[in-house]
Amino acid sequence: LPAKHPVTNEELMLETLSMATADPIIGLTEAFGKDSNPEKINLGVGVYKDENGNTPVFATVRDAQKRLLEAETTKNYAPIEGTAEFSRAVQGLLFGEDHEIVRTSRGATVQSPGGTGALRIAADFVHKLFPGTRVLISEPSWANHPKVFEAAGMDVATYPYFDSARNELDFSAMLNALKGLSEGDIVLLHGCCHNPTGVDPTEEEWRQIGDVVQDRGLIPLVDFAYQGLGEGIDADGVGLRELSRPGVELFVASSFSKNFGLYNERVGALTIVGESAEAATTAMSHAKICIRTNYSNPPAQGAALVTAILEDAEQRARWENEVSGMRDRIKEMRSLFVETLKKKGIERDFSFIARQRGMFSFSGLTSDHVETLRSRYSIYVVASGRINVAGTTRDNMDHLCEAIADVLRD
Ligand code: LMR
Repeated sequence: LPAKHPVTNEELMLETLSMATADPIIGLTEAFGKDSNPEKINLGVGVYKDENGNTPVFATVRDAQKRLLEAETTKNYAPIEGTAEFSRAVQGLLFGEDHEIVRTSRGATVQSPGGTGALRIAADFVHKLFPGTRVLISEPSWANHPKVFEAAGMDVATYPYFDSARNELDFSAMLNALKGLSEGDIVLLHGCCHNPTGVDPTEEEWRQIGDVVQDRGLIPLVDFAYQGLGEGIDADGVGLRELSRPGVELFVASSFSKNFGLYNERVGALTIVGESAEAATTAMSHAKICIRTNYSNPPAQGAALVTAILEDAEQRARWENEVSGMRDRIKEMRSLFVETLKKKGIERDFSFIARQRGMFSFSGLTSDHVETLRSRYSIYVVASGRINVAGTTRDNMDHLCEAIADVLRD
């Protein structure tokens, strides 16, 4: 219930509050922590686990951390926007070193506390400077997307994305909806590994999205939180590159939580691409005010680690190998998942799980199924039926599939 205003003298302010709803994703981790069932499995939050069920520190990160610790001379504030070296490294990773946006300096990158922080800076920036601008998100999308934009005061609407009967992208419905939008509308697009569906447009479909964006004067905001977890660091940038056409303005919210395993360091970036280098410099000056009035300036360590690894050719190659290892394991688990569900005698066709990309599979399980998985088996899945495939292992797969077979029999 909302708090009453004004609070009377007899009543303490906080006494008027009732409990808020737990976060639909991170709230599951909290509940999981309190669950005493030794066979519990957390397939809620998008965190990578190795074959032993651990979320390891990357070897490249551990080594870079040692070097940085030895070389560190100060804990002085970082610049409001983060370091120039970090910005350069981010743009190289997003677009490629030789991309027109990089060469012409028409992109301004600010460091952010994770991908969520980048989205919030973008939302504050747009709401403050272009009040009344709407943001369109896919239906479905990451549960936190509408909340971040609404918290910044923006209006949120949706466009169709997923065909749940076929477990595929509903591309014609999506494209038609985009064609109906107005100039200056912000369209949030998932750069790769769509969260929660695991279903991305093909390169040709991205090209058509790019055409509509350009023709209609839409402004893409690309949420790029899983670069490298789909098909590869470079291959996963195909959508972003299709959108990044000369003259087009766009925003990119990127994250290093997953592809560097730097979840708790909170490191990401917001890149604002203008029509010219001057426009980018001006945009940066405003983004800095959004940051200064929110958290002042960014935490240093995560960005220093990312920069150190990306700037060193040898370390970068080692890191890309580590990302490939994660990607390969997830793909292996997808196949094993499909195979094991079949072995359990489930008639429903789950073969689509092997075709989805990134950490997540939109399983088609209902919120009732999800509830029963949790109450009967202590298996935690997001209420939408999203399963974090990156949390499955050879050891927990059999138990998971047995439980799914059981809830589907009900
Ligand atoms: C997820 O969707 O599980 C991740 O993006 C983590 C988060 O912050 O929700």
